Amino acid sequence: MPDGEALPTAAAAGANATAHFRADKAAAGTGASPERVSAIAKEVLAAVHATIRKHNVTYDEYNALKAWLISVGETGEWPLALDVWVEHVVEEVNYAQRPGSTGTIEGPFYIPNAPTLPSDAKLPMREGEKGTPLVLKGTVTGTDGKPIPGATLEIWSADADGYYSSFAPSMPEFNLRGTVSAAPDGAFRIHTIRPAPYQIPTDGPCGALIRAAGWHAWRPAHLHLKVHAPGYGALTTQLYFPGDPHNGDDVASAVKPALMLDPKPAKVDGGEGLEALYDFVLQKL
Ligand code: DHB
Ligand code: FE
Repeated sequence: MPDGEALPTAAAAGANATAHFRADKAAAGTGASPERVSAIAKEVLAAVHATIRKHNVTYDEYNALKAWLISVGETGEWPLALDVWVEHVVEEVNYAQRPGSTGTIEGPFYIPNAPTLPSDAKLPMREGEKGTPLVLKGTVTGTDGKPIPGATLEIWSADADGYYSSFAPSMPEFNLRGTVSAAPDGAFRIHTIRPAPYQIPTDGPCGALIRAAGWHAWRPAHLHLKVHAPGYGALTTQLYFPGDPHNGDDVASAVKPALMLDPKPAKVDGGEGLEALYDFVLQKL
């Protein structure tokens, strides 16, 4: 980031993530019965009570928890906190049995309606965008084995400094974000850059918890995708790079072996880059 520009802060990323969540998802409602709400709420509280008894939690610790919860809300960090520490289990119970490609968490940094692009696409990027050029290539088929013409691939990632557009200052709104339409035979070829490993914001309450507990804040480098088509189950997933130091200890617990890319050196736009192949299989409904 050039000198003099504002550094991304948890406060900014957090407030942004909360605003996007409210706009895109918060109104959906659950339709859950009072019995289900009661059972789930009771068991969450019982788990909290059991932990307090097991560890003889002090009043100072109880007040520290209250202060922490208040500041997670005030800084807008709930989407970050929940997507790092909770979403992976929601994803697991909802999609573990689903046929087709493996999914994982969405995280807090998805934005709908990124620019639409053809099947052979270059994501919006800055002049001289930092980072190794990367081409992701493959096809989208259904669990019935048929290619899905015009399947939609929404793709987003951090840049080579680990920052997401729309959540960090001084970046074009849709940098490294696109909505790609697969070709009539289901094929796609997406030119982007290899993202950097990403640290969840450490200057807010999530960072304070991580420091107080002696944990680390890293996610391994990853590409995010949502792949969908009418008549097929939508897939939300991420793809990872072999050898990343945090593939084995992702703060968000979202790495799965089936999501590892195998990038090979290749010419991209006449220069040195990487090419990775990944095929997506969507559940035929
Ligand atoms: C978070 C960030 C990510 O990039 C991601 O993929 C998942 C979670 C987070 O900060 O909560
Ligand atoms: Fe991410």
